[in-house]
Amino acid sequence: MPEGEKPSRFKAIRERVFSLIGTNQTWNKIPQFLELLEKGLDKELFHDPEKDELEEPIPLEDLPVDEVLRQSGPFRKFYEWAFPVSHVFRITHRYGREFLDNFLPLDNANYIGRGSYKFVYKLPWNQVVKTGKSKLPSDSIFGSLYKEVGKDLEKYLKKEEIALKNYLQAKTRLESNQDEIEFKFRRLGLERLHYWKLKSLIPDLVIPTRFFMGLRVRNTPWRIPTISLTPCDQQPLLAGKHLKEFTIKNEKLEQNPILNKLFPKWKLNFDSHRFGVVSKSKLKKIAVDFNRVIQVTKYLAEEEKLIFDVHSENIIITLPDFDLKIFDFHLFDDYLYEPSEENPTPEMDHIILIEEFIRSFELDK
Ligand SMILES: Nc1ncnc2c1ncn2[C@@H]1O[C@H](COP(=O)(O)OP(=O)(O)O)[C@@H](O)[C@H]1O
Ligand SMILES: [Mg+2]
Repeated sequence: MPEGEKPSRFKAIRERVFSLIGTNQTWNKIPQFLELLEKGLDKELFHDPEKDELEEPIPLEDLPVDEVLRQSGPFRKFYEWAFPVSHVFRITHRYGREFLDNFLPLDNANYIGRGSYKFVYKLPWNQVVKTGKSKLPSDSIFGSLYKEVGKDLEKYLKKEEIALKNYLQAKTRLESNQDEIEFKFRRLGLERLHYWKLKSLIPDLVIPTRFFMGLRVRNTPWRIPTISLTPCDQQPLLAGKHLKEFTIKNEKLEQNPILNKLFPKWKLNFDSHRFGVVSKSKLKKIAVDFNRVIQVTKYLAEEEKLIFDVHSENIIITLPDFDLKIFDFHLFDDYLYEPSEENPTPEMDHIILIEEFIRSFELDK
């Protein structure tokens, strides 16, 4: 073997390896965010339209209820009556133009709840679709994670979603419209990032959820429907109760008489057997799961400066299984919260409540 051949052969191999790393898609693509996010979702959210009729629908009275959240004001009620929701499609980009699929029928009668960010509708099969409420960019949800998404939108949106965004933006000349479109797509990316933060930490407690850009259609009295672009998500329908519904507010806290009259404070009294007696082993399992949620809440607060919005209407205890499920994944920057004397760190508000609930199980007795 002539001298010198070895190093040059080595060099050739090295170059070949580097060129492989550079060009081969599987090398570049290993931690693909969207692939991880949607893994298994097709199966978990699958339903067969032929068999939907055979499936036992979960009765409305078995769903978690929140009187205050569910109620709309008189103006909203009138609006919903005059312009009733009809359906929502998923909108993407195909064949060089917008493309609609995943038709989801909506109905005012199937409206089951809302929080600050979404309207929630029960579908004719046992799933829900949540349509994003319109929000201003100044809303507190659009914090540091929103910036993170904006910096790398390709990571959080599918190729066809980016193509749709560009397509829709090119169709309008108004800069304000273009910004509005940009904002909605970033909001979609943000929802996915929130979901992923929790899904990667407590996968079994976080219910499978698919986020997509939706086109929501409302009927009007003049028969021309109105449509609006809004981020949506779809997930299984849960039968159960909010953590809040396990409280019995029957003990007033001692305050001075005037405060007592104007702003009465109630001691949180939980009754875990309120909806039927729960076995000790079930209570133990749910206590362990709640402790995991507490650990995750602490971790996000300490390491990432993010407050997981895990208040009592964002936790559902399923019935009859009595399992803990998380279905709302919003995270907020910790600097948005004012520290108070009782709670120097904002995540403690949520944690104290959960601990109170666990204590009510009286597992040490
Ligand atoms: N998967 C679900 N099954 C049953 N009810 C749900 C489900 N998701 C949401 N809800 C109801 O809708 C309300 C608002 O939903 P949520 O996801 O918390 O919206 P937001 O992000 O606006 O707070 C919940 O408090 C709950 O009552
Ligand atoms: Mg909520």
